[in-house]
Amino acid sequence: MKPIKVTHPLLEHKLAILRDKKTGTKEFRELISEITLFLCYEAMKDAKLTEVEIETPITKTKAYKIDEKDFCFVPIIRAGTGMIDGIVKMIPNAKIGHVGLYRNEETLKPVRYYYKMPKGIENKQVIIIDPMLATGGSGIDAITLLKEDGVKNIKFLSIIAAPEGLNKMQEVHPDVQIYCAAIDDHLNNVGYIVPGLGDAGDRIFGTV
Ligand code: PRP
Ligand code: URA
Repeated sequence: MKPIKVTHPLLEHKLAILRDKKTGTKEFRELISEITLFLCYEAMKDAKLTEVEIETPITKTKAYKIDEKDFCFVPIIRAGTGMIDGIVKMIPNAKIGHVGLYRNEETLKPVRYYYKMPKGIENKQVIIIDPMLATGGSGIDAITLLKEDGVKNIKFLSIIAAPEGLNKMQEVHPDVQIYCAAIDDHLNNVGYIVPGLGDAGDRIFGTV
């Protein structure tokens, strides 16, 4: 599936501040959360609605709701957890699973260290969240683990993606719809996205 690049002047504005190396931890975290709201909004466009009857102060009427518990958001630890805040502002009862992966700095291959999903994950719409999609290794591995668990409906939200990672993801998991706020130019020789924003985990958690 072709990736969906979400565009909006406010999103461009927030991305500009996010990328700036002078932006401090507090603002960086807030921006990650706000940008996630935009991506989540877009990714939920085809969410199933159920008709319900409610009573306004004036009268009874039909209204439409999603079943929040049908959705499971899966941050890739560490940086992906910085996006949870934005998700739960929109869908406070969503289930949250966790995948722990880090990139070996020499091989750039993802190393797995944690995996915990809610019960019945195979029947949920799963939305993986990670601010950076670089070589695609971490995202591909997270999707593979979820598919091994029987998950059929997977989407992937990233804030900044590199063309190399997007191509690889589409090749290995063509059924997964990717949403991102920016498609950058390329990866440098140590696997960082150019122009990017640096190391997302370090900037979210202040470990620079
Ligand atoms: C970052 C990022 C992704 C991964 C992307 O995590 O949050 O998970 O790199 O790179 P890839 O597409 O080449 O796999 P990192 O490995 O730095 O771990 P951290 O979140 O714990 O800092
Ligand atoms: N992970 C990051 O945090 N930043 C990059 O540019 C690439 C991978």
